[in-house]
This record gives sequence, C-alpha cells and structure tokens, in this order.
Amino acid sequence: MLSKKPRKEFLTFFEKRGHQIVASSSLIPTDTTVLFTTAGMQQFKEYFLGKRSPFSNKVASCQKCFRTSDIGEVGDERHLTFLEMLGNFSFGDYFKEGAVKYALDFLVQELGLEKEKIWITVFKGEGRVPEDKESKRIWQSLGIPKERIFGFDRKDNFWGPTGLEGPCGPSTEIHYDLTSQPCQKGTNCIPNCDCNRFIELWNLVFNEYYQNREGQLTPLKQRGVDTGMGLERLAMVCQNKKSVYETDLFFPIMVEIPGKDERAKRVIADHIKSAVFLASEDILPSNVEQGYILRRILRRAIRYGKILNLPKNFLIPLAQKVIEIYRDIYPEVQFRQADILTVIQNEEEKFSKTLEKGLKQFEKISARGDISGVDAFHLYDTYGFPLELTEELARERGLKTNKKGFQEAFEKHQEISRAGVEKKFGGIGKETSPEAIRLHTATHLLHQALREVLGLHVKQMGSDITSERLRFDFSHPKQMTEEEIKKVENLVNQKIKEDLEIKKEEMPHKEAIKKGALAFFKEKYPEKVTVYSINNFSKEICAGPHVQRTLELGFFNIVKEESSGAGVRRIRATLIPPPKADKL
Ligand code: SER
Repeated sequence: MLSKKPRKEFLTFFEKRGHQIVASSSLIPTDTTVLFTTAGMQQFKEYFLGKRSPFSNKVASCQKCFRTSDIGEVGDERHLTFLEMLGNFSFGDYFKEGAVKYALDFLVQELGLEKEKIWITVFKGEGRVPEDKESKRIWQSLGIPKERIFGFDRKDNFWGPTGLEGPCGPSTEIHYDLTSQPCQKGTNCIPNCDCNRFIELWNLVFNEYYQNREGQLTPLKQRGVDTGMGLERLAMVCQNKKSVYETDLFFPIMVEIPGKDERAKRVIADHIKSAVFLASEDILPSNVEQGYILRRILRRAIRYGKILNLPKNFLIPLAQKVIEIYRDIYPEVQFRQADILTVIQNEEEKFSKTLEKGLKQFEKISARGDISGVDAFHLYDTYGFPLELTEELARERGLKTNKKGFQEAFEKHQEISRAGVEKKFGGIGKETSPEAIRLHTATHLLHQALREVLGLHVKQMGSDITSERLRFDFSHPKQMTEEEIKKVENLVNQKIKEDLEIKKEEMPHKEAIKKGALAFFKEKYPEKVTVYSINNFSKEICAGPHVQRTLELGFFNIVKEESSGAGVRRIRATLIPPPKADKL
C-alpha cells in the first residue's frame, strides 16, 4: 500500500463524516513565538479558544511539520525532522467518544490493521488535572481490554501548548505492536518501552485547558479534539516495514546514497527532505532564526556525507528525488525547484570549502579535552561550524562543549564588529552629501520594489552609499532576469514620480516591528528607534537622513546586478538628478 493511499483515505474517511478538509498551511506559522509548524493543530489554535472558525467546526488535514526536538534521534527506525501529520479536529463539536471511535474505525475497518495489536495509553492524572477515566472506559467499551491500556503522566499523555501559551489537554495514544515479542523486560514491555516492539502511531488530544505564559491552567469554555498521526509511521505499519526509511516516502532517496553506515544515510535522507521543504518556503540559510535551522541541517547532512565519502554536490540528486516523491502532493517543491536546488548547492559549496579544515582544527582542539567557548566560537566564525555541530562532534568523543562560553565569545565579537556593522547596515555612514542622501532614500524604494517584484524573502544584507552610486546587497537565490530588473527600476521610478512624502517617526522598537517596519540585526537596536515611511510603500527602521519628497530623486537607473556570495545578489544603481527649478 503506497503512502498515497492512507493519506487520501484518511481525508476521505473524515470528509464522509462531516469534516471539512483543510489544506496544509505553511511550515512558517503565523504564531511568531514559534519558528516552525510542528503540529497539525497550529493553524487552528484560535478556534480551540472559541474564535469562530471560518471552516466547519469539524476539520481534517494533512499538515507539513518540521521539528528539531528529535534531531538527535533521527537515524533510528522512526524519528524524523520533517513529517506529514494526519489530523482530525473538533472545535466544540465531538469530544472523547467521537474521537476514539473514529480513530479505531479508521485503523481497523478502513485500513485493515489488527485490532489485537492496538495498545493504548491514557493520562493517569497529575497535579490538578485528574486521571482520564473516561477515555479508558470508552476504549474498553469498544473492545480494547484493560490489559492493553496503561496510564502515563504529563510527559507522555498531556499535550501542548505549542508556543508560549494556548490550548492543551490530556491525550490518549494509540500504539501498534509490531512484533508481539516482549523484550527482556517481559510483562513490563508495554507502550513507550525503549525497545522497538511498539510504535506510537496516533495521538488524540482533548483540549480542555488554556495554559498561560506562567504555566497556569484554566478550563476552556469550549472543549476540543486535536489528533495527530505521522503519515510516515502509518506507512511503515501499512507497508510492513521495520523503519520509516524503508517506506516509499524514503526508499527512493535511500537507494541513491551509497555506503554501509545506515544511520549516516538516514540522517542525510531526513535532512535533505527537510531542507527541500524549508527552502520551498523561501527560507535561505543564514545565521538567524529559520535560516539558521536550515543551515544547521544542511551542514549536518554535508558532514554525514563526508563520513560516507560522498562526492561533491551529492545533495543535489537527493533533493531531486525528494521533489519527485512530493511534487504531486505539494506542488510548491516542483514550482520552486530551481531556487531550492540553487540554495542547497550554494550552501554545499560554501561549507565544503571549510569543512575539512574545520574538522582538522577540531581534532587539534579536542585532543586537549573539553571544547572551550572560545574554541567553539572559532570553529563557528572561521569554519562555519554551527554550535550544535561542534557539540555533536564533541559528544561523539565523550567531550563537553562550553555553550555559555560560546555565547560570551559570540557577544564579545558582536561588540567589536558593531562599529563596522553599523556603517554597513545602518544609515549612510559618514557620507552625508545631498547626493548620498538622495541615494539613501532611493535605497529604501529599491528594497521595497525588490520585495514586491521578487518576493518577501528579499532582505537587506548590506548597503554602501557614496555620492556617486548606491550598492545594495540582498538575499535572493538566483540571478535576476532582465525583465525583473526592468520591473524593479520602473517601480522605483513610478514611486519617485508620485512625489511621495517621507515621514520620520520615533517609536519603541517593538511598536516599529508590530507596524511592519523592516529591520536588520534587531538585537542591536536601541529601545527607541527612528522609522522612515515613504507613504504606505516602504517602512524601515533607519538612522537617516533622507530627502523630504521622492520627486527630489530624479531618475533611478540600475547599472549592474551581480552575485555577492551564496544566495546574495548585489545591485549598483545611480540617480540622474532632476532638472534644476530655474532651468525648467
Ligand atoms: N498536537 C498533537 C501532536 O502534535 C496531536 O495532533 O501530537
């Protein structure tokens, strides 16, 4: 049974039972307190809290998820960073009885799994939240004997909230007995045992509480159901495989990776899949936030490629396999193929240059014992080793890494380079001739025009202004076409002609961000910042100065578009001054 089947059957099953099918949302959630979508319920969070859902109050989805919480376990039989989560949800509609019955019917009647192999865990009660006797009773009423139902505490059977606050509640989990063979623990070999007998298949969460930022629970006015079942694990069970890597969702990638080290191969296969999906959402490798995570998994994959002695650019054919597997389900991977491959290739080229030397350096350092913060920072700064990679290398040798020391070294370095960075990113430095001021305002128009023409992934990576020209570096994975250049140039000139006013305001940094002002290196901004807006076209935190109206700029002319490092483009542009008033 190819994975296509359970994916489709799951949605059809719930559609037939009155659920509205909702498409997967982006891997980047709207909730800014979390970096990624890690669960199917995330896009529905507010409907659990009572906000009226624009969908029906019963929905089902297959959601793309990305989690780094299990990254250390990736490479075993079942843990992954990218997964598809099948889920059905009720916002104040059915509750425990309905959810449990649907789950059992789907697995046994629809997919034909063996009921005798289904084992259950329920919440056994902790703190002020009582034992979930009701779920236990329901399972028993549906024919699961009490000998196959076990109570666990908060760690295993209470879920959420995602982010800093939100809905949460006790859960009941369905585990599948893969071997029917207890390990040496005998009768104590039950679900959650660390042997490979059972697999946790489906998590049914009963959202009854709201947890605030202080961790306090209050009952929700409306009770809801949030379920999640990893498609890869379901495919593994349906296809009778020992690991998710043997299913059709991984096999085509795995066969492309030569070598004997199974774990290394699995890590590469998992990470390249995640990298393709992250890059398909316009995330570019960088040193902050989502971009840093993408960089981390790509560099980790490259390092494992080195262990297997894989040739240069080995990630590209693997990424192509990922695209082949998913293009019919998630057309964005096909549609963004060229960008995805460029991003991966650039990162591979960049890191391959320093990896070998960095590993040699690591050998030297680790021969002396635990890794100091300064050494970890040196590996990061000079050889591009994410801290987590150094930690992993150290762990493999039974050594520790001084994380706090790394942080200190990092901050010290920031202090030293601040002056340089400020010149590069903030304002226009010492150059305050009228020409430079006009070019500075043009830079803001250019930045916004690039975002409108190329997409919101465009971010300022650097800026340098003299009295003759502006030079603007920005993130974008490939060369701009002639047409795109023309469009950007025209848009800037159009805004100049509209004679827009440039407005300067002071406000708290937080408010500026809330209002959508573009900002770079946010950790360096003072509490109060200056925001320059050009009508409602552009808004940036900036030290200025700027002209008063755009008509003062004259004619904007892009002279050159070129590469400025991996995933970064550079534009040089000039302004042809407007005719002087007395010459009109
Ligand atoms: N939110 C729960 C989970 O992610 C169930 O969907 O496991």
